[in-house]
Amino acid sequence: MTHALTPAAPRARSRVERVRRGLLAACLLGTLLLTGCGRNMYDQPQAKAFESSPFFADGSAMRPLPTGTVSREFGALDPAYLTGMGPTGFLSELPVELTADLLQRGQERFNIYCSPCHNFNANGLGATVLKGFPQPADFTTTQRLLDAPVGYFYNAMTNGFGRMYSYASRVPVADRWAIAAYVKALQLSQNASIADVPADATLAPNAAEANR
Ligand code: HEC
Repeated sequence: MTHALTPAAPRARSRVERVRRGLLAACLLGTLLLTGCGRNMYDQPQAKAFESSPFFADGSAMRPLPTGTVSREFGALDPAYLTGMGPTGFLSELPVELTADLLQRGQERFNIYCSPCHNFNANGLGATVLKGFPQPADFTTTQRLLDAPVGYFYNAMTNGFGRMYSYASRVPVADRWAIAAYVKALQLSQNASIADVPADATLAPNAAEANR
């Protein structure tokens, strides 16, 4: 039985092989035809940023903003919010609502961006200062800074101060206000006395626990 079947096997295999080759060729042809379709869509005429263009008189593909265009970004219409300055100087009032969330955000951002030099308690003895960086003034004991309005701190972050670089590109406007609010709260917290605690204030349960 084995002997009788043996001569037929190679012919069967070669038929299968021919069918397989045919299918492969059809697949390749199909792939070529299909990929040929996509290019025109991809390469259609379009202007990209900073490219030149013969279409416009100034030869540039990018269009200038029409005169008088005003950014609608939040706060862009309010120069005091962006600069920290009002008509009479630094803003003494926060231009945003003071909430616990704002102070918490400010604390988080201050600890990230400012504490390396100003220290976590803003006394000017951050890690870099201990390694030889210039020492900033102590925010919590320097009378000039205790008296400084919240806009002063916002402004220093926005424009830089002396040897301190501007933080405008690294800390967004809203976070700069959160930090400025936190710095004022930090100053208060480091100079508070028992007389500052309202008579009817009660300690939160966990604080009472911690103070036992
Ligand atoms: C790389 C170190 C460094 C970091 C980080 C830094 N500062 Fe300063 N900052 C300084 C130094 C140094 C000065 C003093 C510069 C001078 O007098 O030339 C200063 C000055 C200031 C002043 C002015 C103080 C004054 O005497 O009037 C303010 C306000 C201030 N920094 C706020 C901030 C805040 C807020 C941040 C975080 C967003 C920050 N700084 C991050 C180093 C730093």
